[in-house]
Amino acid sequence: MTNFDAVHERRGTGSSKWSKYPSDILPMWVADMDFPAAPEIVDAIRNRLEHPILGYGVARDELRARIVADLQSKYSWTIAPGDIVFLPGVEPGFNMALKAMLKPGDGLVVQTPVYRPILNAPGHWDLLRHDAPLRPGQSSYAVDFDSLTAALSKSRALLFCNPQNPTGKVFTAGELGEIAALCEKSDALVISDEIHCDLLFDGRHHIPIATLSEDAANRTITLMAASKTYNIAGLKTAFAIIQNPSIQEKFIQSRLGMVDSVNILGLEATLAAYTSASKWKAAMLAYVEAGRNFLSEQIAARFPNIRLIKAEGTFLAWLDCSEMGLAPDPQTFFLEHGKVGFSAGAEFGEGYANHVRVNFGCPRSLLEDGLNRMENALARR
Ligand SMILES: Cc1ncc(COP(=O)(O)O)c(C=O)c1O
Repeated sequence: MTNFDAVHERRGTGSSKWSKYPSDILPMWVADMDFPAAPEIVDAIRNRLEHPILGYGVARDELRARIVADLQSKYSWTIAPGDIVFLPGVEPGFNMALKAMLKPGDGLVVQTPVYRPILNAPGHWDLLRHDAPLRPGQSSYAVDFDSLTAALSKSRALLFCNPQNPTGKVFTAGELGEIAALCEKSDALVISDEIHCDLLFDGRHHIPIATLSEDAANRTITLMAASKTYNIAGLKTAFAIIQNPSIQEKFIQSRLGMVDSVNILGLEATLAAYTSASKWKAAMLAYVEAGRNFLSEQIAARFPNIRLIKAEGTFLAWLDCSEMGLAPDPQTFFLEHGKVGFSAGAEFGEGYANHVRVNFGCPRSLLEDGLNRMENALARR
């Protein structure tokens, strides 16, 4: 079994996370984890390489059947194998969905703060972005239903993210029901990025928004992948679930010539992840949840002016540093004075320049190192 405490050198491996900064900076930004993939997945890739012809691939029936069975057992969601469309990533998936289903000038709702490629996607297709902010509460982020209703009234679609990046919010059944009802009322398409769906804490269960009703199933394009949970994002393999045949047809048309083929090793890895890596997943989740707890406790004890609502899922923490007065902004401050590289809050929407996003999907010693670097930066102020 993987030793999640072990630190693996990733510099020199072409890792985006570890190539961005000079070697004295500890990178805690882009959303991949510093853990080796499950041995079952590595073995599956190795086995595939025993056959040295690496031509274009197609998802095997076995993989479709596995996903169908998985969605049934996890969410009581009944889909057909043909409802699945494979993609080289969730980000290409939501962009293809926007290209297929909306036209320039249409409105699109996003809930801020949000993952930068979601925030920027409307701009790629000349859509008008309408932000519906999530509001920080005592122990969770809340949906501001008034802004969501107002934004939907001007829009053709909602680009939804659950579990949410960067807040780590996991939407409750009640919230999802209300969101689905609002989308039905406004006749809005729902593009639901559920890439973090297997990374939930405290015994929470993910609910795909498409499972809420027949109407929701008919108006939703759901995007999922094994990539975040099993730390295989570099294999660029994901899938859409589209139960409405006319939406699926438009989606497939718009994808042709751009993102129509999928990485063959990614398909093997995805099958192995869903077939034989469940023990690894459980161990990883326990480790990452403990890391989430450790980070929250340490922030509360050592940085009482930083506000942090505990992530309910993902391996990301959203730190509100507004009360600290860190110039010019907390990301630059911690990078320059502490040598730790977080994601800058401004990337996630307007009004978040005083936040940073911290990736805690790493061995505990790296997390401790990151916290110490923050402390040293503040001590030197
Ligand atoms: C919410 C969310 N969606 C999509 C992606 C990117 O997915 P992919 O690499 O499959 O395009 C990420 C990666 O950080 C993410 O956090």
